[in-house]
Amino acid sequence: MRILVSGGTGFIGSHTTVELIKSGHEVVIFDNLSNSKIDVLDSIQTLTGVKPKFFKADMLNKDDLKQIFEEYKKENKNFDAVIHFAGLKAVGESVAKPVMYYKNNIAGTLNLIEVMNEYNCKKIIFSSSATVYGSPKSVPISEDFELHTTNPYGNTKLMQENILSDITVADKEWSVVLLRYFNPIGAHESGLIGEDPNGIPNNLMPYIVKVADKKIEILGVFGDDYDTPDGTGVRDYIHVVDLARGHVCALNKVVNSTGVNIYNLGTGKGYSVLDVVKTFEKVNNVPVPYVIKGRRPGDIAECYANPAKAKEELNWEAEFDLERMCKDAWNYVKTNK
Ligand code: NAD
Ligand code: UFG
Repeated sequence: MRILVSGGTGFIGSHTTVELIKSGHEVVIFDNLSNSKIDVLDSIQTLTGVKPKFFKADMLNKDDLKQIFEEYKKENKNFDAVIHFAGLKAVGESVAKPVMYYKNNIAGTLNLIEVMNEYNCKKIIFSSSATVYGSPKSVPISEDFELHTTNPYGNTKLMQENILSDITVADKEWSVVLLRYFNPIGAHESGLIGEDPNGIPNNLMPYIVKVADKKIEILGVFGDDYDTPDGTGVRDYIHVVDLARGHVCALNKVVNSTGVNIYNLGTGKGYSVLDVVKTFEKVNNVPVPYVIKGRRPGDIAECYANPAKAKEELNWEAEFDLERMCKDAWNYVKTNK
């Protein structure tokens, strides 16, 4: 299939591109490079033997998007589906800059939908997030749980889910797959692609990596008084390559159905902050000093998926364990020093 990948030079998009190419698909990427680097394309080529066609395009600019579809239309070609990763994703930043988040994520997605409609490409896989479950009534979390968001980033995810669902009601040709990711970490085992946030990271694994690399002195553990086995927050960490493969499995679903299909992509296992720290130290043989701090506002005690629906309907399940996630995350940093 020919797949248009928005945000394809980013963390999850680049890993998904590799898995798509390895599965025999043709990938075309567009990205505005606001949070990724063009060099990723060379790494993808090294890993797959194929350099995907790239458009530097901003989804806030409809003409940028039209140009991509137009170029293929000239050759009587179209995309079989779009995988939509492009977006801004930092929760804290979204609280400080809500308008930027609503504009980029919502207006950008509306532009993409309009252009897809215009060029009769009506199949889309969307990167949603477990953030749409808010503080769940219980764990593990199933897809039919109540939805509730607590910050502008989460609001944009839920709004995008609703917009995409609404268009399938209005036009029966549309097919939408919403993938709700739990906590993606790790990197490709080659160390060629991975996650490299600028400045001080918000998320646990990038922070641990910076502490292990002595770029940051100490990890602050946000709370040890939760109702969890060791008192620290529990999350469902998933290897980014497993997550990427989930998209390849979801492709068959999106092209062969109509309406909305929703799947959790997680492992179904919860690990605490201290589990992650200790595992990272053990498998990589590096110290990760930490200090217990107060709870981070907005955090929940426990969040992990019931991934049964993805297994049953997409024939997908996560394979890599926490040790492998920690090993690959560290390998990426060492390789790129
Ligand atoms: P990322 O920032 O590495 O990738 C997103 C890409 O989108 C970047 O390359 C960025 O340059 C691009 N982009 C942003 N705005 C754009 C615009 N207006 N036009 C064109 N390109 C634009 O993030 P990621 O971790 O790969 O996340 C991918 C998607 O998955 C995002 O939608 C994110 O919200 C979602 N998600 C991520 C996580 C996570 O923990 N990483 C969890 C749940 C959901
Ligand atoms: N944590 C620390 N110290 C840190 C960073 C995080 O103790 O420096 C803890 C948090 O309190 C939490 C756990 O590590 O208990 C995981 O925190 P992350 O920030 O890595 O991940 P979150 O679960 O808070 O949120 C992430 C993304 C959201 C997404 C959500 C579910 O940031 O965008 O996963 O997919 F919505």
